[in-house]
Amino acid sequence: MRADLITQSLELAAARAADLTPHVYARLFAERPELEAMFGDNPRLVQGEMLARALETILDFIGDRSYAANLISAESMAHATYEVAPDLFVQFFRVIADTLRELLGAEWTDETERAWRGLVADMAACAPQDEGVLA
Ligand code: HEM
Repeated sequence: MRADLITQSLELAAARAADLTPHVYARLFAERPELEAMFGDNPRLVQGEMLARALETILDFIGDRSYAANLISAESMAHATYEVAPDLFVQFFRVIADTLRELLGAEWTDETERAWRGLVADMAACAPQDEGVLA
């Protein structure tokens, strides 16, 4: 049920925006302008690749979960080396959800909202707490 709602919302968004990348990062950088400078010399490439990986991770998490939990745990720690704390790392999934909500407009239902909220919370629970990274 949750997986169907998530998949459906991604399909609806893809029909409205061929490329989600500019939409997701416009939202991320509106919330956190300081992050824009982090993406190096080829920001479009790195941003596109990162979003693709995040979307694949979502699809794995709602599917057979072969690697998503491990990837969130490992990448959230890897990102700490770029000064992206684990709590900020998992915010990326919430920013994706907020971007889809905006794109879908009236097609974003209460059920879709609940599905994404639950998903983001469950994915966030896979990242270590701040103390865990330092321990
Ligand atoms: C707000 C949250 C996030 C920020 C600010 C962020 C930022 C960054 C930055 C600065 C890089 C390094 C780029 C470079 O090579 O110079 C990077 C790489 C990468 N990010 Fe993110 N990231 C976030 C969330 C995520 C999420 C949720 C995923 C996937 C589930 C992800 C996957 C990756 C991958 C696969 C790379 C390539 C290098 C590596 O494995 O570390 N990122 N990210």
